[in-house]
Amino acid sequence: MGFPTTRQRRLRANAPMRRLVCQTKLSVDNFVYPLFVCPGTNIKEPIPSMADCFHFSADRIAQEAAEVASLNIPAVLLFGLPEQKDPTGSQGYSENSTVCQAVRQIKKAAPELLVITDVCLCAYTDHGHCGLIKDGKIDNDPTLELLAKMALAHTRAGADMVAPSDMMDGRIGKIRNVLDAAGFSDTPIMSYAAKYASAYYGPFREAAHSAPEEGDRKSYQMDPGNSREALREMELDLEEGADILMVKPALPYLDIICRAAETFDVPIAAYNVSGEYMMVQAAAEQGLIDRDAVMMETLISIKRAGADILITYFAKDAARVLRS
Ligand code: PBG
Ligand code: ZN
Repeated sequence: MGFPTTRQRRLRANAPMRRLVCQTKLSVDNFVYPLFVCPGTNIKEPIPSMADCFHFSADRIAQEAAEVASLNIPAVLLFGLPEQKDPTGSQGYSENSTVCQAVRQIKKAAPELLVITDVCLCAYTDHGHCGLIKDGKIDNDPTLELLAKMALAHTRAGADMVAPSDMMDGRIGKIRNVLDAAGFSDTPIMSYAAKYASAYYGPFREAAHSAPEEGDRKSYQMDPGNSREALREMELDLEEGADILMVKPALPYLDIICRAAETFDVPIAAYNVSGEYMMVQAAAEQGLIDRDAVMMETLISIKRAGADILITYFAKDAARVLRS
């Protein structure tokens, strides 16, 4: 009789043995790749704050989407930039928004690729908040109309799923009603349900030009110290009709992902956000870590915590690693 540890050692003895007993496996099927679409034509411009990420105009994004599809990644998540910003973010919910144009192009170029669209006002409002502002405060209820209008415009353009990231109260129910009434009851909603007021969004806000002009998002995004509130937010979104629940960011909130997966019987998505991504890129750039190894370990930790769907800027690179 050996020590109990020897049994562990036996199962780690060689690669096929380790493969046999490995509990969590990453698959390209889990990935969603975020893309940024900007106004104009023939644009593919590096995003300075986000290594290896680009702003694409709608006419150029189809090519990128085709590459994503050729890597067998099932879905992209689209973020749009307007030509002009105004107090209500009107370019965000126009039927000819940059996102709507991009959806049409992508659906033509890569019909099998799922197109998910981010639904929020912050990239389109001149004040940079996710909702309308009245007397210096978020005006929740009138915002819902505009978000629903945006979701409907995206869906009419051909989006396969909408992902509201605004954190207004009641938006899931409102969007569900509007989509149903327009004949889109089969279009799922992925809710950014547990979205924290995080400093990890920094590089993204540079990319989306969406940093608030004044104040912060703490009145509508969650306090990093809270976990019961996350479960409450997710429960409400489910009741309102969400099909997929998202936790965001991912790494500092693995406990929330774990509790969400144990509590709810719907797919759980996790967003490995821009700051998490760039910490790895920056450390690798300095030669401090092995980028691919850290990338894969990061992604598997999020899956092991309980996420079914991983939204990540690493999707293309991780797909290549998995393939080789
Ligand atoms: C906007 C939105 C943000 C992100 C996705 N949608 C930023 C924010 O709330 O300020 C962040 C994504 C990332 O950092 O990669 N509602
Ligand atoms: Zn927003």
